[in-house]
Parts: sequence; C-alpha cells; structure tokens
Amino acid sequence: MSEVLLSVKGICKRFGPTVALKDVDFTLRRGEVHGLIGENGSGKSTLTSIIAGIRKADSGEMQKDGAPYSPQSAVDAQSQGVSMIVQEMGTAPDITVAENIFLGKEKRFTRNGLVSKKELNAEARKVLDNIGAANIPESVPTFTLNLEERKLVELAKAMYEEPDVLIVDETTTALSHDGRELLYAAIEKMRSESKGVIFISHDLEELMSVCNIMTVLRDGDIIGTLTKEEFDEATIKAMMVGRELTGSYYRSDYDGKVEDEVVLRAVHLTGAELVEDVNFELHRGEILGFGGLANGGIHELGRLLFGIDPAIVGSVLLADGTEVKDASTAVKKRMGYVSKNRDEEAIMVHASIRNNIALPSLSKLTRRGLVAAGKERELAKQAISTLEVKCQSMEQLTRYLSGGNKQKVVFGKWICNESHILILDCPTRGVDVGVKQAMYRLMYDLKCAGCSIILISEELPELIGMSDRLLILKNGKINGEFIRSPELSERDVIHAMI
Ligand SMILES: Nc1ncnc2c1ncn2[C@@H]1O[C@H](COP(=O)(O)OP(=O)(O)OP(=O)(O)O)[C@@H](O)[C@H]1O
Ligand SMILES: [Mg+2]
Repeated sequence: MSEVLLSVKGICKRFGPTVALKDVDFTLRRGEVHGLIGENGSGKSTLTSIIAGIRKADSGEMQKDGAPYSPQSAVDAQSQGVSMIVQEMGTAPDITVAENIFLGKEKRFTRNGLVSKKELNAEARKVLDNIGAANIPESVPTFTLNLEERKLVELAKAMYEEPDVLIVDETTTALSHDGRELLYAAIEKMRSESKGVIFISHDLEELMSVCNIMTVLRDGDIIGTLTKEEFDEATIKAMMVGRELTGSYYRSDYDGKVEDEVVLRAVHLTGAELVEDVNFELHRGEILGFGGLANGGIHELGRLLFGIDPAIVGSVLLADGTEVKDASTAVKKRMGYVSKNRDEEAIMVHASIRNNIALPSLSKLTRRGLVAAGKERELAKQAISTLEVKCQSMEQLTRYLSGGNKQKVVFGKWICNESHILILDCPTRGVDVGVKQAMYRLMYDLKCAGCSIILISEELPELIGMSDRLLILKNGKINGEFIRSPELSERDVIHAMI
C-alpha cells in the first residue's frame, strides 16, 4: 500500500441537535482518487469542509504527511496543500475573475501598498490557461460568467497552489461535457503526480470511472471502503441506503398517452442568446424532454418559456391566449420553474423551508390578505415527507440544509403549488439515487394527473427514461425529435446533438 497522505481520526461534528459526523476515520493515500458517496445529508460536505479548513470539528484529529494538521481557515489549509471546490457557489459575484482566484492572497501582487492589477490579471491568465480554460476572461466581474465558467474559475483557483490534496464536492453537475474534461484532466494530473483527490458525486457511474477507491457514508458514519476491483453498483447502493433498492428507476410504460389538448405553444421563439426560431407544442399530460449539449440552448430556452428572459422574436402562448411575457404572468397562470442555478435563482437561502415551499402558493393560502398558517404548515409538512427532506424542522433556514436537500425544497415548492405546467431545468441535480427515484415517481404521477412537464436535462438516460417526446437543441435550434419507445437508445439521440 502506498504512503498515507492525509488521515482523520475520531472526527465528530454536531449542528445543534443534528449529528452530522459520528466518530469518523478516513484515510487518503498518495495516488488515490477517493470517491465519497452517500445519501443527501449523510455528511460528505461536512467531512470535506473540515479537511479543507472551512469548518471546525467538535473533536477528533487530523494528520497530513504524518504531522498534526489543524487548519485555521480555508486559506490556511490551502497554504498547507489542501484545496477544495465547494458544492455551493465558491466565488464572489462582484469582484473580477482574477480577484477571485487570488482572494486573500493579494499581498503577492502588492507593490508600495498598492495591488498591481496588471500583474494580478497576467497571473490569473496563466492559471486559467493552465487548466485549459482559455476562453474565460480574467478581468471581467465574476457575475457575468455562467455557472459552469464560475466553477472552472474555482478549479483554477484550487489548482493554482499546486495542492497535494484536491477536494471536489459535487461539481460535475454544474459542468458540461467540455468542462468535465478539464476537471478530469486536473484530477488525472494529481493522480499521476502521486497526490490525492477526494471526489464527491451522486453519479455512481462517474464515480466508478473516475475513482480508484470509494468510501460510503450513511448518517454521519463510514459504512465501508471499496477498492476498484470491488466496485459494484448494487453493493454500493445497498451500502448507501442500508437496504436493497428495488422497483424501476424511471417510468416503465411505453404507450405514450398524451392528450390532444395543447397547453403551451412556442412560436418562432428566439432569445438574445442561443435560442433561435424554436417552435413546438406542449400537450396536456405530456412530459416533453429537451436535451442537447450544455451550450446548445436548453437552459436559455427554459428561461424564455417562464418569461425570465424576454423573447426577441416570437412568443410563448398559453391555451387561453395569454402570452407569457414575464415570470409573474407565468406564476399567475400556474406555471412552475426549477432553475439549474439553485442558490441564486431558485431558493431564498435566508428563509425557512416552510416559507420557501409556501411562496408560490401564497395566493391559494391567503384569505382576505392573511396567510392561513395551518394550511401553510400542512403544505410544508407534506413536501418534507414526500421528498424526505432531511431537516431539524420546517422552520429551519434553507441555508443550513445539505445541497441535495435544498434541491428537494426547490422541487417541492413547485410540486405543492399544483402547477399545471412545470419547467424543470436539471431537477435532479445533486440528489441521491433514492430521492431521484421519488422525484421521477412524482413527475409521473403529475403527468397522470394532467400536468404538463418540460424536462430540461443534460442526462440522456433521464430524458430517454422519462419523456413522452424528446426534442434536441443544437446551436439553439431544434435538431431532432424522438418519440418514447423502448428501442430508443442514447446513440440515436447523441447523433442529433453533435
Ligand atoms: N450549517 C449547518 N447548520 C445546521 N445543520 C447543518 C449545517 N451544515 C450541514 N448541516 C446538516 O448536517 C448534515 C450533513 O450535511 P452535509 O452537507 O455534510 O451532507 P452531504 O452528504 O454533503 O449531502 P448532499 O449530498 O445533499 O450534499 C445534514 O443533516 C445537514 O442538514
Ligand atoms: Mg454536500
């Protein structure tokens, strides 16, 4: 066995009444790409953020290269060779890309008390080029970048210090195919230099191909560690949830029953970015999938359909003739939208779970200007139990939930709203396999109840598994249509994507 790079022993961590980690031991050896997997709220982010100096353990010890290791902050951990790409947004929006990369390290570029912007930018350029992100500008404010680009800025920032330990927390779901390749290249570089990587993902297939060892967490406990030869999907899933997962993952019907009634129509829909002359009809009770490469326009299409971004040409029309020109019209007309960019668009992190879930339903819950508190609680209770949101109570602020549990709240708030038309942009992003299954079940039940769903996704199996009909966007235009069938394969669809 190779040399131990980092070890943690007896780590405990509580958040009030929640026990996030119970006496955890974990070892990372040189040359390991060590996968961490476990259900939402099992403690993955807590453990790794303690290793990365972002949080402090209540008790326990850590060693790095055989010496005691107790980082006082993320910057301190980085200076000791441990870098982490966090699950949530890890860049500040209002400063430039270069400033984000060197945040807390400006001293390096200070001459006579002044930060040399020129040097800072030049160094940032090098760092970005080094990870292969040549097309990301270094001197623009970070909020002008999209989610993927901002994650790649975090990768550049993490790699700049040439860390011994790189931690990647649920990052790939924010990345397109090309972005993933850059991340995998960075990971491979770490491995080939006999350094260590801790890689967190809910995508088991991805974990099995990227990692050479994997540890399973459940409710703050380490359940076991498997080497590459021992990797087996069923075993790992059973370790995660503590029981065998049974039943079909996606829906199993193929009769493709959809009503004739058209509930939404996109006519020559064209946006400022990417979406160009898109025409389609959404039927009552239909799950209409939209797939394509990340830069093909699918996410932009979702924003146009919900009225967040204005159409430059064409329109989105509902059955009663209403044109969806803005999001407030969409909400009034009982449309719902789950954004891919969760923390900034889909959730109020400083509000409680109850408030978040009730928000789109307020008109329904209000009598003479007063919110019916009992009904509101009932609604929140129902969503929390259906989606198994792991929380202390419905009054807990959503910022304290684990990433996947936040995603469940976002999903729950629109499901409970009894929306007639749902636009779901990567709705299962970051949720564990068990909850994914529950979400698919819910989507199917909604369809059967007459709800229409637009499912935008970068995961082909999910699109093929759930859609009645699948439209592929390429360079902003519809480039293929597929009808639900057991014969439909990923290969058929990929053809239309590239
Ligand atoms: N700041 C906090 N305050 C209160 N509870 C917290 C806080 N951070 C995490 N928790 C709780 O600790 C537990 C572990 O959370 P953690 O974020 O480590 O889970 P995770 O395995 O990363 O889940 P996910 O897959 O959803 O990202 C959860 O029950 C979570 O609600
Ligand atoms: Mg997490």
